[in-house]
Amino acid sequence: MRRVSVLGASGSIGQQTLSLLAAYPGRYRVVGLSVHRRIEALSEWVSLFSPEWVAVTDAEALSEARSRWGQRVMVLSEKEFYSHLESDPGDIVVNGIVGSVGFWASWHTLQHPTAVLALANKESLVFGGKWLAPLRERILPVDSEHSAVFQCLQGENTESIEKLILTASGGPFRGKKTEDLRLITPEQALRHPVWKMGSRITIDSSTLMNKALELIEAYWLFAVPQEKIEVWIHPECIIHSLVLFHDGSMKAQLSLPDMRLPILYALSYPSRVSFRQERCKLPEVGGLHFESVDESTFPSLRFAREALQRGGSAPALLNAADEVIVEAFLKGQISFLEIFDWLEWTLSQPEAFLDPENPVLLAEVEKEFRQKLRVHLRLSVHAG
Ligand SMILES: NC(=O)c1ccc[n+]([C@@H]2O[C@H](COP(=O)([O-])OP(=O)(O)OC[C@H]3O[C@@H](n4cnc5c(N)ncnc54)[C@H](OP(=O)(O)O)[C@@H]3O)[C@@H](O)[C@H]2O)c1
Repeated sequence: MRRVSVLGASGSIGQQTLSLLAAYPGRYRVVGLSVHRRIEALSEWVSLFSPEWVAVTDAEALSEARSRWGQRVMVLSEKEFYSHLESDPGDIVVNGIVGSVGFWASWHTLQHPTAVLALANKESLVFGGKWLAPLRERILPVDSEHSAVFQCLQGENTESIEKLILTASGGPFRGKKTEDLRLITPEQALRHPVWKMGSRITIDSSTLMNKALELIEAYWLFAVPQEKIEVWIHPECIIHSLVLFHDGSMKAQLSLPDMRLPILYALSYPSRVSFRQERCKLPEVGGLHFESVDESTFPSLRFAREALQRGGSAPALLNAADEVIVEAFLKGQISFLEIFDWLEWTLSQPEAFLDPENPVLLAEVEKEFRQKLRVHLRLSVHAG
């Protein structure tokens, strides 16, 4: 039986993972769960799985969790959580934490000699790809595009890759021009046409920043130069990504859009387990369509390429800035189009030209930059 920990258990990825684990009781044993503060989302799962530990990273919620479950399970603080990940994380750790803070859970998990990291938290690689990439043999992608590429690469030699092609739905504003985007509200941007996800990734899908972060993620996961990574808009979201090989053949992975599939693939890899859900019937889909990205309206991919080319602190700051900028947009502090202006501004700042030698130093640069940006965006300045 595989021992599994689910980090970010109260979130969209976390909850989908837990419902899958509940559906295969003889195959998996849930040993650990983490949340930041929404402990009520765990009540049902703690009763169902009786995990060995629950980690709560917010101090106030931690004391509430200790009084609630302290008699039955080990309730870990953030510091205890990280050291537990190094000593006994389980066989597979699903990282569904949102934001670059998720890097630390990935990092500590991979310090364990054998644990496998099922990675949904793309920010781990965007923030600290340089430090995680040497351990990539033990990283299984959960992001649907990267899972698709990973599935296409089974049995292949990575030297025969000519291109990785990540697909993108195009988000709710596909086909719109800059002029049409001036008055977009958060409510409109939160209405994703296909996927139901957390709010940050949904806004990132509408700006294509999600795809920009995925481009950086693919670069580190598959060790392919960025010139070999393309993005195509594919509104049906049936093909989750493709690989073009140097003999001209292409492989693609197709399925109905359902995050439980890549999660299950990572949980069961290298096997596949039976999953009785609706099948993709291509004759009913009718047609599959593809477009190039309109980078003059949606410049996010250009920012990602520039950040990757520059290296050092640039990708981490682009991501950190995006987290803050999305918050400012959701709070009505800036307009939709200003998201792009602030991302571009970020790459022009001196902090985006540094090359910290370890993740702790990078985290300091990132933290200070967030505070600076929060002041510029008239957001409250806090410790996070
Ligand atoms: N949702 C999807 O379909 C999807 C698809 C592909 C990739 N991803 C990636 O998966 C990750 C999670 O996305 P999501 O949509 O599941 O996010 P979400 O619904 O917002 O959930 C985020 C989780 O992270 C936890 N968290 C937040 N701040 C934290 C902190 N400071 N320290 C520790 N944990 C913290 C949250 O805990 P609380 O609830 O207690 O705050 C929650 O459990 C993201 O990197 C996203 O890009 C998501």
